[in-house]
Amino acid sequence: MASKGLVLVLLLPLALFSVFSGSAEAQGLSVGFYNTTCPDAETIVYDEMSGIIKNAPSLAGALLRLHFHDCFVRGCDASILLNGSATEKTAIPNLTVRGYGVIDRVKAKLEQACPGTVSCADILALVARDVVTLTKGPSWPVPTGRRDGRVSIANETSQLPPPFGISISNLTDVFACKGLSTKDLVVLSGAHTLGISHCSSFSNRLESDDTLDPAYAAKLRAKCKSGRTLVEMDPGSRTTFDTSYFEQVSKRRGLFTSDAVLLQDPQTRAYVQGYASGCSSEFFKDFGDSMVKMSSIGVLTGTEGEIRKLCFARN
Ligand code: HEM
Repeated sequence: MASKGLVLVLLLPLALFSVFSGSAEAQGLSVGFYNTTCPDAETIVYDEMSGIIKNAPSLAGALLRLHFHDCFVRGCDASILLNGSATEKTAIPNLTVRGYGVIDRVKAKLEQACPGTVSCADILALVARDVVTLTKGPSWPVPTGRRDGRVSIANETSQLPPPFGISISNLTDVFACKGLSTKDLVVLSGAHTLGISHCSSFSNRLESDDTLDPAYAAKLRAKCKSGRTLVEMDPGSRTTFDTSYFEQVSKRRGLFTSDAVLLQDPQTRAYVQGYASGCSSEFFKDFGDSMVKMSSIGVLTGTEGEIRKLCFARN
């Protein structure tokens, strides 16, 4: 009994360390960071996004992806937004990223209310949460306090996972490098419930790929050959955040190799099948938790970086 107690005493601090060392708080972020400096910041962002998504629901997916592409390269420091030659924005994986103008619009509203206070990196994290909520998905408290980076390098986008030519172990490694677990990988891939894709992102799978449902492949081939270059990733519900992505993947109708390989490992397959057959509340809760982790990758805080006046340019 005494030795059990001793083991607990020794292991508890270790367990707590491993929980908190990767947490948003440990990275210097806190929920309500702008409570005194810009008390209406989150309401301003939500109200602006509410109008934008009502008029252009297809931007929801684009803006969620924008935050992911920012966080995986140099951390969530808004480096993806910087204009210039050979910046992240100009690199191949980001040529299909949309929604930059929305961030400029939200930033302009915040600059009117509280000049020089709210970072572009925080705007990206808040907007990502709000577009999910506005498309009938969950909401979650977003820890804030990120600062904006001054550097953006096109070549560093090689840290983003490619949609094809990737195995499940490569994919879990890419996420592990960013401090994200195998569960986070499956949960965050659920973001593909929103949005659209270019045919070129999955055309490698259309001719002979037995991990893609042949009937579905035929439909995709027909769509892509008809001169269209864009398809819904989650047909019928691309502007609704729900669990149907997991239903699609479990029927071998995930669009990318990176979606399909989630069925190839027993652990990732169990998560996919669990979310496909379970109630959405479990996925919703897990999605918020994984987003908080993703939104905390490599953040700049305190006196690091700067608060940009315009999101597309350094001060
Ligand atoms: C697991 C690795 C991932 C890969 C390989 C991947 C790849 C892609 C690709 C190739 C597209 C289509 C781009 C196009 O052709 O226009 C796409 C779209 C999208 N991705 Fe991912 N993605 C991954 C993870 C994520 C994560 C973690 C999120 C967010 C949390 C995300 C959110 C989205 C969204 C919302 C879209 C639709 C964008 C739009 O409508 O413009 N993806 N992804």
